[in-house]
Amino acid sequence: MKFFVDTAEIDDIKDLNALGIVDGVTTNPSLIAKSGRDILEVTKEICSIVDGPVSAEVVALNADDMIAEGRKLAKIADNIAVKVPLTWDGLKACNVLTNEGHMVNVTLCFSANQALLAAKVGATFISPFIGRLDDLNLDGMELIADIRNMYDNYGFETQILAASIRSANHMSDCAAIGADVATAPPAVIKKMADHVLTDKGLDGFMKDVAKANIKIV
Ligand code: E4P
Repeated sequence: MKFFVDTAEIDDIKDLNALGIVDGVTTNPSLIAKSGRDILEVTKEICSIVDGPVSAEVVALNADDMIAEGRKLAKIADNIAVKVPLTWDGLKACNVLTNEGHMVNVTLCFSANQALLAAKVGATFISPFIGRLDDLNLDGMELIADIRNMYDNYGFETQILAASIRSANHMSDCAAIGADVATAPPAVIKKMADHVLTDKGLDGFMKDVAKANIKIV
């Protein structure tokens, strides 16, 4: 499973990228607003750090304007994936931008039918939002499984980009189900390394290192 980082914070992206675990980045208007940066500037900087796809979201609501914005965003760098919402206009924009050879990420997906439509119009990525479904006592992970099954039944090449990830368990659950990509905030990715038994075990080892005065260099 590929790891994308869901942020527009440059320091966090550089930090995780240095570890070699960043396969791409996703942003959205809320993350751009949080960064306090100009969308074109910060997106260009992210594209210069990361080799993989960098999702940059349109802000228009009608297809023609989304297409114009998508073309402008795609000019920023070769690794831009234009992000469009899963509305009828977004699907139209996805179809046009895909046919022009751009990567397109269709976002705000909350149902299997929406995911089916995104695949039919040729989306590169579909972004089902797990956490926002879980917030409503629905089952976000079940949606990932349904889409996986549906895409595999018909050989759709659209990649399942699990989004709105809120916990480290979401990451391993997505990998077990077979999501192609999971995008998560930096804090969630770092949390994946935590285990209380690792901390306890290391504490014990360090006590013995001190007791026996073990030195390596
Ligand atoms: C993904 O592309 C979205 O930007 C993101 O995962 C949304 O997450 P949220 O529901 O935590 O805002």
